[in-house]
Amino acid sequence: MEFAEHLKSSVDIVRVVGEYVRLKRSGAGPRYTGLCPFHSEKTASFSVHSTHQFYKCFGCGAGGDVIKFIMEIERLTFWEALKYLAERHGIPLPKRNDLADEEARQRGGIFEMHELALKIYRDQLFSPAGSDAREYLKRRGLSRPTAEEFSLGLSERGGQSLVRVFEKQGFSHEDMEASGLVLRRTDGSGFYDRFRGRLMFPIHSESGKVIAFGGRALGEGDEPKYLNSSETSIYRKSHVLYNLNRARKALQEAGFSILVEGYMDVIGVFAAGIHNVVATCGTALTSFQVRSLRRHASELVLNFDPDAAGANATEKYIPILIEEGMKLRILQLSGGLDPDEYIKEHGPDAYLDALTKAGGYFHWLADRARARVDRNTPDGTVAIWQTLLPAIQKMPDKIMRLAVVDDLAGYMKMEKSVVLNEVRRSVSGRGGQVSKRQEVLPDPNEVLLLHAMLDSPEARAEIVPVLHQSSVVQRFASRAIFETILRLIEAGETPSYSSVEARLPEPEKERLAALVFADDTLSRDFTVEQAVACIRKLASGERGARRDELRERIRDAERAGDLNTALQLMQALSELERA
Ligand code: GTP
Ligand code: MN
Repeated sequence: MEFAEHLKSSVDIVRVVGEYVRLKRSGAGPRYTGLCPFHSEKTASFSVHSTHQFYKCFGCGAGGDVIKFIMEIERLTFWEALKYLAERHGIPLPKRNDLADEEARQRGGIFEMHELALKIYRDQLFSPAGSDAREYLKRRGLSRPTAEEFSLGLSERGGQSLVRVFEKQGFSHEDMEASGLVLRRTDGSGFYDRFRGRLMFPIHSESGKVIAFGGRALGEGDEPKYLNSSETSIYRKSHVLYNLNRARKALQEAGFSILVEGYMDVIGVFAAGIHNVVATCGTALTSFQVRSLRRHASELVLNFDPDAAGANATEKYIPILIEEGMKLRILQLSGGLDPDEYIKEHGPDAYLDALTKAGGYFHWLADRARARVDRNTPDGTVAIWQTLLPAIQKMPDKIMRLAVVDDLAGYMKMEKSVVLNEVRRSVSGRGGQVSKRQEVLPDPNEVLLLHAMLDSPEARAEIVPVLHQSSVVQRFASRAIFETILRLIEAGETPSYSSVEARLPEPEKERLAALVFADDTLSRDFTVEQAVACIRKLASGERGARRDELRERIRDAERAGDLNTALQLMQALSELERA
């Protein structure tokens, strides 16, 4: 989109990011650093590049241009981020008539309908018609202030209250249906409310907008117990956590989040004064949700219901959580109680105490495995380790892995060396799979060359023909990046950081950022001669490698008695030496 490019060239990313992050310029170079706003850290691994106008966190992997930054930090769509930036910088927006804008208009309507629905449901709960529902809340120990804090409501049985208001407000039928709050009758004769006769739990986005609802049945045995909003253009179940909007600050203060299973658990824990609590909205936990928690707190206590379903979910989520680098503890409450019930029965202090005492996830896994098999037999021991190894392998950090093995061996009273061997074997058997955020030191020649290609038309004019002639690029660690640049040049475009980045797959984007931030001294004062010398160095490295390879193959052929091949190879070698 052209406007986006125009906007990007009119705002300075350093100033925009600077409103959210305290940035420090490193030396006189183009690099600014600060603490990453997207994950918690003590040393700055977040960088902003003033020349290439992008940001990158080498800790959590977040990165992009100024629009992406605003989308992520303000949790806006692309269009909304454009609007936000344009308004703040006095840049006129283009006319509202393209497709993206029609979508934005409809989303706006759906947001409004959700606001209206929240008010209607809330009024119904506190009207005379809501007396049964209020009685139900009272029975469950949920006070009026808490009900108000969570904007609880009641949907009316008749199924017409939303429809009526939406029609009166002039929403189109198409928009009404897109909101998911009302459904079209199968015979086409009109609409009715999706939620009827249910206790309503509004679901908010992280910034506090109502985007969906969960509705609990009030009668015993009414099915389903919970009915949740379907996905809409403003609601993606896999991205949203219940209560994150209210929990945000508490997560940062406490340094950990509590993940529970249900809406009622969240409310019970929150009402007890423990605010750093969230739940998924009746769907499986996703990495996206884990990352949105990790931006605020690096530790999590998983506290699911102590039944089989809760334990199975716990086991399933452990790898997802640790893969995202979350420090994880498991809380399983005694007496078969869920968090809500436990607090009702034992009080907030007992719950806080249980939280503090919650153990590491591997102890929980070990206990669970031990309950299943007999630890005193060799088969039993192997079986236990087999359930533990996948979780250990998922740990991104090697040192942490070893510490866990150490701890587990002690916990299970096993010989440490035996355990270590077992883990080494299984980890090395991962097929060389490398943790995705492992830092590789870039080749300084490639760094200099990249800067030359991106920053200087003169250098490009000198370098490109040389690169085309030799096959040296094939040997670059950053081959994909250089090939992309060459392709852009062939297409008659000027390669820039963002045009190259946009054409790269995810891991290569990481590499590009690493190269650009590699070393300020290399990125500034280079000359065209240096750049050309660089290629020569790289090319001679290439020749050296090829020479070694040929010698190796000659030896192999001689040993195998294949003199014909050996002679051919020798000829190739002497040609290479002459060149
Ligand atoms: P109470 O049973 O009233 O204490 O509520 P709860 O929030 O503790 O519910 P429960 O532990 O039974 O379930 C946990 C969560 O799973 C709920 O909050 C819902 O998000 C979801 N859930 C439960 N039952 C259903 C259902 O029948 N359908 C759907 N879609 N989700 C459900
Ligand atoms: Mn429950």
